[in-house]
Amino acid sequence: KKLLLIDVDCGTDDAQAIMMAIAAPNVHILGITCVEGNTPLDNVCKNVLRVLQLCNRLDIPVFCGADKPILGEAINASDFHGTDGLGDVPDPTAPGLELIQKEHAVSALNRIVSKHPEQISLVATGPLTNLALAVRMDSTFPKKLKTLYIMGGNMESRGNTTACGEFNFLADPEAAHVVLNEFTCKTYIATWEHSCRSKLPWEWYDQWVKRGTKKSDFIKKIYAHSMQYSRNNEKENKALVAGPGFVSCDAYAMAAAIDESTVTSVIDCAVTVEMCGKFTRGMMVLDLIDSLKKKNKALIMNGCDLEKFKTLMEALIK
Ligand code: BDR
Repeated sequence: KKLLLIDVDCGTDDAQAIMMAIAAPNVHILGITCVEGNTPLDNVCKNVLRVLQLCNRLDIPVFCGADKPILGEAINASDFHGTDGLGDVPDPTAPGLELIQKEHAVSALNRIVSKHPEQISLVATGPLTNLALAVRMDSTFPKKLKTLYIMGGNMESRGNTTACGEFNFLADPEAAHVVLNEFTCKTYIATWEHSCRSKLPWEWYDQWVKRGTKKSDFIKKIYAHSMQYSRNNEKENKALVAGPGFVSCDAYAMAAAIDESTVTSVIDCAVTVEMCGKFTRGMMVLDLIDSLKKKNKALIMNGCDLEKFKTLMEALIK
């Protein structure tokens, strides 16, 4: 089985990515680390536990990590994900924070990868703060990973939070900079534009959440707010990349980790992130002409096998 670590800022699409990994028979999840992002860190931890309870997988250890970016103040995405990060439909039976491991997420990342050097795939679906701190704690962290899958950044300067800033990179550009510049393992990046171009039709989404399973009911409930938000935006033609449809950003990075053949095309180049620009802070920069002379290149996902992706999405609600 593929060994997986998942670093999340658990909002609605992170929840789906976790459920996708749990449903995949070829994957063994070693732990889930939490980072402040879509919602404050306590909510992130609670949301992960809630998802694990739904899937009867509270045996997976959950670790609490960074509650702030490397510099500056945290931003969140409550307008999309709801104030609790999961669409504001609380579950009174959800487990409490006492189930979170005592060990800090950054220590846990280093400990776990040291135990399985070059065997672990790490999927990061939030700001990259924990990963940046992990490499500062132990500079050998990146080379002990097998593959890194990131949801974040943009390949054509389109933002979803500011004009040029995609949420995960904008939430901690310094951390993104450390990861993009210091991680030497094979690294896939599912950008904002890639996610938008891999949308599924709304008709597909509408029947997907109506399957009547416990998990499809959960998705329907937590997504009610954000999907209405997306559909309203589409009507106003706001931030519309590649036409209407359902986009679940974090699920594309997870799908790639579970089945690399969901990625049908990549752009192989060095990347970095803008940290200073007045309008461009957080924007990912593709060095297509190799001007930075960087050794470590990233694989920018540039095509998704939607039939295979749908199969993984179907599996997660069963
Ligand atoms: C990313 O930002 C978050 O709101 C989503 O969970 C996803 O990780 C998309 O830009």
